[in-house]
Amino acid sequence: MPELPFSREIICARDLLKKYNGKTVVDNISFTVTRGECFGILGPNGAGKTTTVKMIHALSPPTAGELKVLGRDITKKGREIKKRLGVVTQDNNLDPDLSVWENMEMFARYYRLQPSRVRAHLHRLLALMELADYCHTRVEKLSGGMKRRLAIARSLISSPDLLILDEPTTGLDPHARHVVWQQLRLIKENDITILLTTHYLEEAAHLCDRLVIMDRGLILEEGRPRDLVQKHIGHEVLELRLAERPELWREKFAASFKELIAGHFLLGDVLYLYTFDGNELLKGIQQMSPPCRYHLLRSATLEDVFLKLTGRDLSA
Ligand SMILES: Nc1ncnc2c1ncn2[C@@H]1O[C@H](COP(=O)(O)OP(=O)(O)OP(=O)(O)O)[C@@H](O)[C@H]1O
Ligand SMILES: [Mg+2]
Repeated sequence: MPELPFSREIICARDLLKKYNGKTVVDNISFTVTRGECFGILGPNGAGKTTTVKMIHALSPPTAGELKVLGRDITKKGREIKKRLGVVTQDNNLDPDLSVWENMEMFARYYRLQPSRVRAHLHRLLALMELADYCHTRVEKLSGGMKRRLAIARSLISSPDLLILDEPTTGLDPHARHVVWQQLRLIKENDITILLTTHYLEEAAHLCDRLVIMDRGLILEEGRPRDLVQKHIGHEVLELRLAERPELWREKFAASFKELIAGHFLLGDVLYLYTFDGNELLKGIQQMSPPCRYHLLRSATLEDVFLKLTGRDLSA
């Protein structure tokens, strides 16, 4: 494949549609990923994240729409594009019977890298992923987090122009997740373009420069994590669990603190009040002595954005 023109658009999807047996699972979505950014697809189970990713790495053809990856049409140049991608699938796809080093070597052979350079390259990648001491360990003996790091190291062998990570930390414990985040930040510093899917809002907020929120095949929102929180929620969220008549109290609060409440959302008996000055709002509310079982004043997050847009939390 000839060198790319210096295009800023690494992925360009327009009205991308995917149907399985007549059922729409990716519903006319459009987005652009530009060179050097970490772009996230955030959404719950079944949102269509993996399906979207599979179309991008030419594993599954779009039913309709336009999809350009690295400036080329995926339906025409899929094989060539694939060679320039690093992909970590949701299931790792490592050979459990082989050692860490053998898994790396096998992949390097596939890419026909210069033999004189391969050893040093593979050692460098394993060191980057903090796996240098495990070269001879069989993959089946590795922890979940180490397997994930190995899959990421392996995806970098071809020095890809675009790294695709489908749920890089699902199933890992919080410590292992933070270790992977740390390594992904290091990769980001090398100006590589990353597309990642996740259903962890914290992961999206930590790693992504921009993201789309996806649900049931649709893109609900797009933007920088902080901007989305600002736009939909504000700075803070005051959560109140009300023992009785939550609807009535919601109306009362909304009418009494118009200038402090930017929005509100009631889920069961928990009232979420979006505000730019939580302390002031809490003070005012306490003076009204509502029947509160608990209250919590906290910073607004992407989870609040998702909740507001869909009426569900991300794990639902
Ligand atoms: N090969 C397939 N044949 C039929 N339906 C499929 C196929 N692959 C996915 N689906 C359906 O498409 C929808 C989206 O699935 P997808 O795997 O893209 O979601 P996801 O956002 O990646 O979810 P998860 O967070 O669970 O990985 C689901 O309803 C799923 O059952
Ligand atoms: Mg998936």
